[in-house]
Amino acid sequence: MHRLIYKSRSTEIIDKESVRDILYTSQEMNRKSVVTGALLATNSHFLQILEGEFEAVNETFFRIVHDPRHGKVELISFGPIDKRLFDKWTMKAFGLFNLNEEMESILKEKYGEEEEGVYFPLEELLVLSLVADVSMMNKSPMTS
Ligand SMILES: Cc1cc2nc3c(=O)[nH]c(=O)nc-3n(C[C@H](O)[C@H](O)[C@H](O)COP(=O)(O)O)c2cc1C
Repeated sequence: MHRLIYKSRSTEIIDKESVRDILYTSQEMNRKSVVTGALLATNSHFLQILEGEFEAVNETFFRIVHDPRHGKVELISFGPIDKRLFDKWTMKAFGLFNLNEEMESILKEKYGEEEEGVYFPLEELLVLSLVADVSMMNKSPMTS
């Protein structure tokens, strides 16, 4: 079992609809290849965690990297894991563009800011901490 984390910059402004479109195509493919994970989005950036068998994660990432909806893809980590963190989710998505002001300022203070949104860290430990914070704050993740 492997986990891959990357950050990318969207080529267009991200909104609920664009995240829904991505989920719509991802969920069926991820179900088939037994890939699970989480997707965070601000108005400008994506941060994604993919979990599954090495080949499945590799193939999924290869497709994602070539998607024209984003660029500047930065690989944060890719390595073996003992178990999935997101085993119940083909892809659990959180839009950080519709946070309330208090949550947004807490996250900006802790992680920083980029292009008016919450900064997506390039360190694996900080990514996992951010995802944990966001899932605690947001009890109802987006679905397609
Ligand atoms: C930010 C982002 C995240 C994505 N996540 C996934 C994913 O988890 N699984 C997946 O199959 N496709 C994902 N996609 C879509 C793929 O890039 C691609 O469009 C899709 O897999 C269909 O591949 P194909 O056009 O080569 O058939 C994502 C795209 C973007 C922009």
